[in-house]
Amino acid sequence: MRGEDGAAPGGLAGQTVVVVGGSAGIGLETARQVRAAGGEVVLAARNAERLQRAADELDPLSTAAFDAQDTDRLERFLRALPGQVDHVLVTAGSPSYTPLAELDLAHAGREFGGRIAMVLATARASRQKVRAGGTLLFIGGTGGRRPAVGMAVMGALTAALPALTANLALEIAPIRVNLIAAGFVDTPLSASLLGDQLEERREQLRKTLPIGRVVGPADVAALALHIMANEALTGATYDIDGGQQLVAH
Ligand SMILES: NC(=O)c1ccc[n+]([C@@H]2O[C@H](COP(=O)([O-])OP(=O)(O)OC[C@H]3O[C@@H](n4cnc5c(N)ncnc54)[C@H](OP(=O)(O)O)[C@@H]3O)[C@@H](O)[C@H]2O)c1
Repeated sequence: MRGEDGAAPGGLAGQTVVVVGGSAGIGLETARQVRAAGGEVVLAARNAERLQRAADELDPLSTAAFDAQDTDRLERFLRALPGQVDHVLVTAGSPSYTPLAELDLAHAGREFGGRIAMVLATARASRQKVRAGGTLLFIGGTGGRRPAVGMAVMGALTAALPALTANLALEIAPIRVNLIAAGFVDTPLSASLLGDQLEERREQLRKTLPIGRVVGPADVAALALHIMANEALTGATYDIDGGQQLVAH
């Protein structure tokens, strides 16, 4: 599709993007931007009602309600998609911050292994499903790079995802594999984690971030669309945090 001369990325018109986690937050906003760019979307998430609300807005090719941590189900979903798709974005998942003293080891193992397995299952099932030059796109974070009490599992996962991304990019080439590492993003997930401290956190970020404002899901979605369209990008991790890593918060 693109030349080998460094041509600028084209748009996503006519392309199909599968969004696992497409009913809220970063996934929903990415699906909105894909539709606005003339692309088609397939949406998946657990809660069928919220998924239906997203479908009413975005008119997807199809929807599927399931838990992506069930990797057999995830692989069946991907393999059952009709024909080939251009890109798969997986945003399913949420962070957990548990001090060692309160850690349930079996749970921690499931959490860590489950997140890795979700990426591996997506990659395995995508080999015959995603076209050459399309991308698998996963979301990690920047917060877990800074050691802190309660961050052992998150920190290990944060370190593992870029390695997983790079290895898979080699193994399933010419399908591309990329990772977005986000700082605080103002989504329903952040709202549920922070509760009544959300506005205080926003205000703190407005004051301390070099960009002087809070990063929103539309910012991350714009990066996701660029990574999908730019066929020179694979095996890499793209930070988007408004400079959060550069300041103390
Ligand atoms: N927001 C942040 O500040 C931030 C920062 C760094 C990294 N991240 C990561 O970015 C990703 C997206 O975050 P977000 O803020 O956009 O979250 P969000 O607002 O909670 O949206 C998550 C979406 O994924 C779906 N989902 C969650 N778990 C799922 C599962 N097991 N199977 C299928 N669908 C699932 C949700 O719908 P259902 O609940 O109905 O399934 C929803 O559509 C997460 O992995 C998060 O850890 C977020």
